[in-house]
Amino acid sequence: DVSGSSAEYPDRVSMMEGRLQAQEDEIMLLKSSLADALRRLRLHDQLIPLLKQQIIAGGWPTIRPQLPVQSLSLEDALPEGMSLMEEARAKFHHIQGLELEEKDEEGEEKDLSWASSVEEAIHPTAIRNLQRDDHQDPNGSTESLSSASQTPISGSPMFIRGRPITMYVPSNIQNYEDLRMEPPVETLELDWVYGYRGRDCRANLYLLSSGEAVYFIACVVVLYHINNRTQRHYRKHTDCVRCLTIHPDKVRMASGQTAGVDKDGKPLQPYVHIWDSSTLITLQQIGLGTFERGVGSVAFSFADAGAFLCVIDDSNEHMLSVWDCAKGTKHTEVKSTNEAVFTVEFNPSDSTNIITCGKSHIYFWTLSAGSLTKKQGIFGKYKKPKFIQCFVFSLTGDVLTGDSEGNILTWGKSPGDIMRQTRAHDGSVFTLCMLQGGALLSGGGKDRKIIRWSADLAPERECEIPEKFGAVRCITDVNGEEVLVGTTRNAILRGTFSDGFVAIVQGHVDEMWGLATHPSQDVFLTCGHDRQVCVWNTAEHKLDWCTTLEEYGLCADFCPNGAVVSVGLSTGRWLVLDLQTKEVISDYTDGNEQLSVMRYSPDGSFLAVGSHDNFIYVYNVTECGRRYSRYGKCNGHSSFITHLDWSKDGKYIMSNSGDYEILYWDVAGGCKLLRNRYESKDREWASYTCVLGFHVMGVWLEGSDGTDINALCRSHSERVVAVADDFCKVHLFQYPCPKPKAPNHSYEGHGSHVTNVRFTHCDSHLLSMGGKDTCILQWEVKRAGTSDGGDRLHSASFTSSPEP
Ligand SMILES: *[C@@H]1O[C@H](CO)[C@@H](O)[C@H](O)[C@H]1NC(C)=O
Ligand SMILES: *[C@@H]1O[C@H](CO)[C@@H](O)[C@H](O)[C@H]1NC(C)=O
Ligand SMILES: *[C@@H]1O[C@H](CO)[C@@H](O)[C@H](O)[C@H]1NC(C)=O
Ligand SMILES: *[C@@H]1O[C@H](CO)[C@@H](O)[C@H](O)[C@H]1NC(C)=O
Repeated sequence: DVSGSSAEYPDRVSMMEGRLQAQEDEIMLLKSSLADALRRLRLHDQLIPLLKQQIIAGGWPTIRPQLPVQSLSLEDALPEGMSLMEEARAKFHHIQGLELEEKDEEGEEKDLSWASSVEEAIHPTAIRNLQRDDHQDPNGSTESLSSASQTPISGSPMFIRGRPITMYVPSNIQNYEDLRMEPPVETLELDWVYGYRGRDCRANLYLLSSGEAVYFIACVVVLYHINNRTQRHYRKHTDCVRCLTIHPDKVRMASGQTAGVDKDGKPLQPYVHIWDSSTLITLQQIGLGTFERGVGSVAFSFADAGAFLCVIDDSNEHMLSVWDCAKGTKHTEVKSTNEAVFTVEFNPSDSTNIITCGKSHIYFWTLSAGSLTKKQGIFGKYKKPKFIQCFVFSLTGDVLTGDSEGNILTWGKSPGDIMRQTRAHDGSVFTLCMLQGGALLSGGGKDRKIIRWSADLAPERECEIPEKFGAVRCITDVNGEEVLVGTTRNAILRGTFSDGFVAIVQGHVDEMWGLATHPSQDVFLTCGHDRQVCVWNTAEHKLDWCTTLEEYGLCADFCPNGAVVSVGLSTGRWLVLDLQTKEVISDYTDGNEQLSVMRYSPDGSFLAVGSHDNFIYVYNVTECGRRYSRYGKCNGHSSFITHLDWSKDGKYIMSNSGDYEILYWDVAGGCKLLRNRYESKDREWASYTCVLGFHVMGVWLEGSDGTDINALCRSHSERVVAVADDFCKVHLFQYPCPKPKAPNHSYEGHGSHVTNVRFTHCDSHLLSMGGKDTCILQWEVKRAGTSDGGDRLHSASFTSSPEP
């Protein structure tokens, strides 16, 4: 959509840079594959004399051929390296092929095609996985030899990217082969949706006569009762909702979604749903097979009591189509323009009259004899604005447009005829809202002002919304006095000109990764690329407080005493915040790469900091989490740390890295690597967030590339494990889950890769975070049937069943 303008060149440059990067990445991969092969060769050379010696000494039985030989064969190594590379190439190809994002004015992102696309789901972590995919065992021979006499899972070790990951069966599981997994007794029920998609969607906030505000985020349309503070959810969309409109009956709604892709990256078909807001029943599904990529804007007709719906899709031609709402059939369709289209509306008094506007255009459409003809608005002596952002019909039938020059233009009855220009805002006019008596509200993009105008466009009142909420995205009238304001920083405010505004909905505005739950309160913390650290209350469903850091946060953990929380940032820096005073009480830096995990030992006497520089830094914690002193460093991973957990006795750490290693560390003994992983098989873990381990082997799909699961979390009861995947889903499995193809419950709602999941302190709720969809979902954990039934099922499969 970037048409011939100079804006194209920066995009080209960044595309070239992207290609160059991809080529460099490929070279990296080649090198590491080669290094891998060489290392395996060397290992081979070292092992052969050893094997010979042992055979001569009659020590043969200590070495079981399956495992070491398998992971050492050169024949295996090379093709594996190659296929890895081909895979990587395919992925980079996808990334290159991604559509360039169109930048709207004022740096606003207009169209985010990220939503749940598999290409995009390859987040930086995954790419680094590929680059650094070196070898599982840095100093391999030691472990391979010493553990060879032990028994890994015979027959079916876990494979990721075609290489085996050894798992050792804990002693309390005698019958691994016969183990049968059941689906968990627990289920999840969507309880609350945090967030509002104001950042890049327009006309996205309505008020029902029930007192519910209707808006959307990720794949969910939220109906939020602004006085009762309750939510209902319309959840029939399979990918991100992009637009929403209300029927003149004030009950029916229409919502359109983006196409998205399936698990294999194939594009799906977008559609519009017409649904009843009182019952949440879907009345019509419109446009399946007609719309391309997604649906950008929808509107009901008014003059005929809402008999028709018009839709603009996201194809290059931005097809404008008109549908019969009752029958769900297409009346007519026409290519509108190759330029970006922002809004479509029927003339409220004449349904044969439709208007569309967008980048450098406004079109007046006439529907006659089943076909649409357009007439372009002419700016004549007025400066042609770069964007026509929005328009409304006045009570007298004029059309008022708001544009990127900050003007409101009044268009006369004969289209293409500007009667008047009214200077309104500094920067864009982002939204216009017509009030009952003919007065008008306008909202500014840059000046963040809301101005009330009389029917003859004399300014009457104005106010400015606080900077932290961003620009005015959308204004909805509550009662002529009170209004709801959606903002570009994903907040919804409620208030009046006289009393000011308070936020009733807030959220993050960029990709989120860090999530931690409080050890004893209904509180959780989130952080992400928008540099915000937010503390939420799950019982009150609200943001408690939020602070903005200098760098962005990626991980966090509450100190077990519940008084402080530490947050790991993108630069190797980490901060400790006091939850009472909200102040930073400690500020440290380890290395200069991003931190991926912060984890306190169960008694709070140690803090482990996992970094992308491959080290785990361990700190002594004293003075109730206020003082930290470096205790040691776990050195041995050959790739970045992704996850780690402490043992229940607080003496050991289990860690995962970007190249799918599982390592164990003796922290009490000086942060030493435990070379014999077999000896850690019976260790009990205070938390389980490592995505690789015997107890969670079964959550992986066969043929996984190792990056499909971003996070997982065992419940405190140790009965279930929740999994966050790259395909927008949250899964719930029985814990432990050591068998492949384990049955599970799976939950939809997120619109991009789910980056994290955590249970609340008492396991009453699960929180999940959809990275780029900026949406936090709060799920209530339900236990089906009686607790007896649950325990019986649970312990049927496992000899030692931890009691909740
Ligand atoms: C690797 O093993 C060799 C020989 O066992 C040992 O001398 C060396 O210190 C080890 N290196 C690391 C990084 O553990
Ligand atoms: C809001 O609360 C009132 C009073 O408790 C109740 O009568 C009404 O049904 C509630 N409405 C919704 C939509 O929850
Ligand atoms: C850190 O903890 C270890 C183990 O508890 C202890 O031996 C050591 O003295 C502590 N160091 C400091 C500086 O507190
Ligand atoms: C979850 O369960 C479904 C249905 O039983 C199954 O198809 C799937 O492989 C399981 N695992 C995952 C990760 O989805």
